[in-house]
Amino acid sequence: MKIMVVGGGGREHAIIKALKKSKSVNTIYALPGNGGIAADAQCVNIGATDIPKIVEFAKENKIDFAVVAPDDPLVLGAVDALEGAGIKCFGPKANAAIIEGSKVFSKNLMKKFGIPTAEYEVFDNIDKALEYVKTAPIPTVIKADGLALGKGVIIAETRQDAENAVRSMMQDKVFGESGSRVVIEEFLTGPEVSVLSFTDGKTVIPMVSSMDHKRALDGDKGLNTGGMGTVAPNPYYTQDVAKECMEKIFLPTVKAMSSLDRPFKGCLYFGLMITENGPKVIEYNCRFGDPETQVVLPLLESDLLEIMIATAEERLDEIEVKFADKSACCVVLASNGYPKAYKKGFEISIGNLDDNADFYIAGAKLEGGKLLTNGGRVLNVVAAADTLEQAIADAYKNVTNITFENAYCRKDIGQRALAALN
Ligand code: AMP
Ligand code: GLY
Repeated sequence: MKIMVVGGGGREHAIIKALKKSKSVNTIYALPGNGGIAADAQCVNIGATDIPKIVEFAKENKIDFAVVAPDDPLVLGAVDALEGAGIKCFGPKANAAIIEGSKVFSKNLMKKFGIPTAEYEVFDNIDKALEYVKTAPIPTVIKADGLALGKGVIIAETRQDAENAVRSMMQDKVFGESGSRVVIEEFLTGPEVSVLSFTDGKTVIPMVSSMDHKRALDGDKGLNTGGMGTVAPNPYYTQDVAKECMEKIFLPTVKAMSSLDRPFKGCLYFGLMITENGPKVIEYNCRFGDPETQVVLPLLESDLLEIMIATAEERLDEIEVKFADKSACCVVLASNGYPKAYKKGFEISIGNLDDNADFYIAGAKLEGGKLLTNGGRVLNVVAAADTLEQAIADAYKNVTNITFENAYCRKDIGQRALAALN
């Protein structure tokens, strides 16, 4: 089969490497892919949100199956457009991708269907929002309604911070129109767990759980990033928690979406917080997480393409999805300075990795036959092993086989999970 993957980061590289293991895959195109993905797929210079060109390419090249990975093309309706042109897809249509595209939509959905989440208020009027934060419990959480490159959430530790956050979103429009409506919600505490799931609108199959590390520096200090590393499984996601999540969150969400004629087909990502009062939804994403995918897919033993096709054909109840009973750790190698200013254009040298390790390229380009750094998060090194401790040790050991000037990584990925286990 001819497969097309829309997107061009570490997540897409992990999806492509997993798809390559499928017997039925002949050719994989990546739109746009990146200089590192080019080793595993044919990269086509079409941007991930250029929907007319994506559809044209799929038709001209007789693509059998398309995987749309990033949030923005999904929210913009890439799957609607591709399916409209007769191309079978993995990914939700726009009317379901809104579960990530609008926080107001997802909060109202959870309220209406009794899905546990933080208490909240919605504002589209700045004066009312400012009035509200004068008496809101502090800390409080302020979220831009729309997509904001993962940066639209501000945890205000003081009343002044809360006021500033409201002004920056609603008045200064730092996130553009995404901030013209805001959700202001209760601050929850507890360990966070990411659960990606396959769902076809009827059946939901959770993948192995994972833990992200969003802050730039060791000890969960520094600025928020797109994610500096992950481990799977997440020790806080016990069997009891998993059962409760399935009953109170996963199935109710999938059923709620279908009951609203917005069947969600694709990967539904549940960002959860395990609070004193049980698991609650912090956020939904309409796609695979990055860098969660990089630890989840290496543990998948079943054929990813078969699962994706079964999802598209609403046959998930007929197939088995198996994960290895192992742990995985992903360390992100970033350009020093990220998520603020950083230099790029340094040559990446990739040595031999151990058999239980692999790498995914996120931000790099090919120039004159050389792979050069071209982004904040440059690449991911992943290792899988029988124990979490071993997976962490092996990931860090293999990190030393990949070098570029100005490389930076957190040294403590997985330590919080390890402490929770012991
Ligand atoms: P998001 O962009 O929705 O993933 O939010 C970014 C991060 O903000 C989450 O991973 C949480 O750590 C934190 N966060 C979001 N909502 C809340 C909340 N209601 N209470 C506490 N922390 C939150
Ligand atoms: N790692 C968080 C996300 O993909 O949104």
